[in-house]
Amino acid sequence: MHARTGLLLSTLGCVVRSSLAGSYKLKQNNVGSAFLDNFEWETLDDGPGGRTDYVSQSAALSANLTYAKDDTFIMRVDDKSMLTNSSETGRKSVRIKSKAQYTTHLVVADIRHMPNGCATWPAFWEVNDDVGVENGEFDIMEGVNGQTPSYTTLHTNHTCTVPANRTQLGNATANDCSSTTVQEGGDNGCDVASIYASSFGPVFNSNGGGWYVAERTSEAFSVWFWARNDSTVPDEVKSGNSSVSTGNWSTPLAYFPASSSCNFATNFKAHNILFDIALCGSWAGGQYGAANCPGNCIDYVNSNATAFAEAYWDLAALRVYLSA
Ligand SMILES: *[C@@H]1O[C@H](CO)[C@@H](O)[C@H](O)[C@H]1NC(C)=O
Ligand SMILES: *[C@@H]1O[C@H](CO)[C@@H](O)[C@H](O)[C@H]1NC(C)=O
Ligand SMILES: *[C@@H]1O[C@H](CO)[C@@H](O)[C@H](O)[C@H]1NC(C)=O
Ligand SMILES: *[C@@H]1O[C@H](CO)[C@@H](O)[C@H](O)[C@H]1NC(C)=O
Ligand SMILES: *[C@@H]1O[C@H](CO)[C@@H](O)[C@H](O)[C@H]1NC(C)=O
Ligand SMILES: *[C@@H]1O[C@H](CO)[C@@H](O)[C@H](O)[C@H]1NC(C)=O
Ligand SMILES: *[C@@H]1O[C@H](CO)[C@@H](O)[C@H](O)[C@H]1NC(C)=O
Ligand SMILES: *[C@@H]1O[C@H](CO)[C@@H](O)[C@H](O)[C@H]1NC(C)=O
Ligand SMILES: *[C@@H]1O[C@H](CO)[C@@H](O)[C@H](O)[C@H]1NC(C)=O
Repeated sequence: MHARTGLLLSTLGCVVRSSLAGSYKLKQNNVGSAFLDNFEWETLDDGPGGRTDYVSQSAALSANLTYAKDDTFIMRVDDKSMLTNSSETGRKSVRIKSKAQYTTHLVVADIRHMPNGCATWPAFWEVNDDVGVENGEFDIMEGVNGQTPSYTTLHTNHTCTVPANRTQLGNATANDCSSTTVQEGGDNGCDVASIYASSFGPVFNSNGGGWYVAERTSEAFSVWFWARNDSTVPDEVKSGNSSVSTGNWSTPLAYFPASSSCNFATNFKAHNILFDIALCGSWAGGQYGAANCPGNCIDYVNSNATAFAEAYWDLAALRVYLSA
């Protein structure tokens, strides 16, 4: 048995966060062109049903699908080219992964705009994609077709069940993280639906975005979200302070504690941090009709180039912190 000081069982049987502080120091501050140095542009295939052609960094820069200047970092989908079903590859898009890998850490994403619209599947996530789910996967934020809710999800290859009753703001839709059965959200794993209209899609963007913060400790994965105009965002998050302490923060949107029914050491290894914009595929394609999007996902991606003008990430900063 390992001491799990972060896990407290209240008298009512609800698993709550410990008030013990996680104290962190800034390790890597990605702003503007720092992304070009600290991330790699992945060109891999995006999987069954996908209609995405992920391009290299040089191709992305020359087509302006990646733009980095001062405090702006933009990555987007091509909104100019027409494709047909016979086009071998899909619509050009961008998928980046941090060169560094992390186990326990805190990451603050200050996001101004996220990809929105039919067929789009933006994701901010952590995985070792050379290995896959055997090393675990932490989907900090993803969603499809510009529709709320967005989701936070863990995926594991071996048994990992999180308690149904735990202190988080979001709605757990499944608690078996190893599940490969498609859940309510169209995803598998143990997912938590956001309760905020402002955490995804058009409302997120019209508010000027906000902050997603993810913490991975040996005791829990936690995710917080604050919209740009939320006055309760911690000052240290808003200011990009070099030190951050999560001890007094509000209840997280999503919270996944380690326990005897989910061994983190077995299930979760070192991860890279990724941002991407997938098009169609199992989730965005699968939910495409349900989102009242026109026709079918593949035709829409092929022939509606201008519909992808909103399919971009604009990141003000991505700060990675390690334990102080
Ligand atoms: C869940 O936790 C709440 C608050 O601690 C408690 O009131 C409730 O009875 C618990 N429900 C179950 C099913 O354990
Ligand atoms: C590239 O994208 C940026 C950000 O959207 C924009 O400001 C700039 O004008 C674009 N450059 C070209 C050559 O289109
Ligand atoms: C293109 O392919 C999709 C799926 O493979 C299919 O549903 C659609 O009918 C095709 N469109 C045309 C114009 O052939
Ligand atoms: C782990 O993943 C591998 C390949 O991805 C698969 O063959 C194996 O069945 C998985 N193990 C478990 C316990 O799910
Ligand atoms: C979350 O659960 C509550 C209570 O069951 C429900 O009223 C609400 O609609 C749910 N929200 C989402 C986004 O699923
Ligand atoms: C943020 O602004 C939106 C409208 O743009 C409003 O609906 C929402 O209530 C505001 N949130 C806060 C916390 O002020
Ligand atoms: C920023 O961090 C410093 C220590 O590095 C601390 O003294 C200060 O209170 C922090 N500011 C905020 C706004 O959290
Ligand atoms: C949390 O707040 C309490 C009361 O304001 C303060 O004494 C404590 O130092 C704070 N802890 C952290 C980690 O900021
Ligand atoms: C392109 O988008 C428009 C507007 O949403 C829609 O009416 C049309 O059906 C779309 N075309 C295809 C081929 O999906």
